[in-house]
Amino acid sequence: MAVIKLEGGFALITGAASGIGKETAFTFAESGAAGILLADIDESNALVAAEDSKKLAVDPAYRAIAIHVDVTNADSVNSMVAYAVKEFGRIDYCVNSAGVSIAIPFPTDIRRLTLQCKIDISTYFIPFSNSSVEDYDKVMRVNAKGTFLVTQAALKQMSVQEPRDVTTTRNRTRSLGRGTIVNVASVLSFGAIPQKVAYIASKHAVLGITKVAALEGGPLGIRVNCVCPAWVRTAMFVEECTRAPHTADIIKAMISQGRPAEPEEVSESIGFLCSAAGSYITGVGFIIDAGLTLTAHLG
Ligand SMILES: NC(=O)c1ccc[n+]([C@@H]2O[C@H](COP(=O)([O-])OP(=O)(O)OC[C@H]3O[C@@H](n4cnc5c(N)ncnc54)[C@H](O)[C@@H]3O)[C@@H](O)[C@H]2O)c1
Repeated sequence: MAVIKLEGGFALITGAASGIGKETAFTFAESGAAGILLADIDESNALVAAEDSKKLAVDPAYRAIAIHVDVTNADSVNSMVAYAVKEFGRIDYCVNSAGVSIAIPFPTDIRRLTLQCKIDISTYFIPFSNSSVEDYDKVMRVNAKGTFLVTQAALKQMSVQEPRDVTTTRNRTRSLGRGTIVNVASVLSFGAIPQKVAYIASKHAVLGITKVAALEGGPLGIRVNCVCPAWVRTAMFVEECTRAPHTADIIKAMISQGRPAEPEEVSESIGFLCSAAGSYITGVGFIIDAGLTLTAHLG
């Protein structure tokens, strides 16, 4: 049983090779999307995700296409959007899930490297005073500039599309507008923790980009929201737990359910915001944190 219902429609998802982006493709396929362009800098895993999504699709004419994109590059982003329009004719849902947490390429087995190369694990927590401009630039380029470029290109495309309507079972007509965008932000769009300045600045930027796009998109019939999860069980989370092994204890102590969110608990919220059920929601930072921020005053 699909938890979410989409009225057909075509999706463009960045960061679709892994984690929340990949899970969003799966959720959209099983919820009735007619086609998805799965875009990622990691094209080979985007291709695997595209093939896997076909096994879940409910629309017999469903199409899934993988494409390489570097969201930090305007030409690459514009080509991706043009390709989606060439293949599908329109973009009903745009989800920005491409993101990084730190700029330093993370060793796959930090414990082994710590022993062999004597890497000081504490260097993976970066106090503000030691944060490098390179790290700041890289994280901001992917998370903030990437969201800016993809949101801008999607807005331009959606603004020239015809709006869509649905008729509900109670025979009421509801406008789906010209399209909807969901950016993947974070609970750290609202508050801060130490030693993560680049990531937190970038996620505050995603919330700001979302709000301005929602204000400008509203009169055009385009809704723009962001989801703001706490920890989500993805590759990024595993990487963070390796850098900070006490993360599991923090989650147990601070989150009522004692666990990170599963990726589908985020992708289904994205699906909800994109669905007809979300038709009156725009400009929000939709917190998905099992109540974490009720007690932990991040702001
Ligand atoms: N996992 C968490 O705990 C968590 C919590 C809150 C927010 N988020 C956010 O969710 C989003 C998705 O993260 P995830 O947890 O699924 O991580 P992930 O590492 O599983 O997926 C991120 C994807 O982004 C892609 N990517 C990175 N740079 C790119 C670029 N320049 N162009 C195109 N694609 C690029 C990667 O190849 C990868 O497939 C990120 O924005 C992240 O900040 C994650």
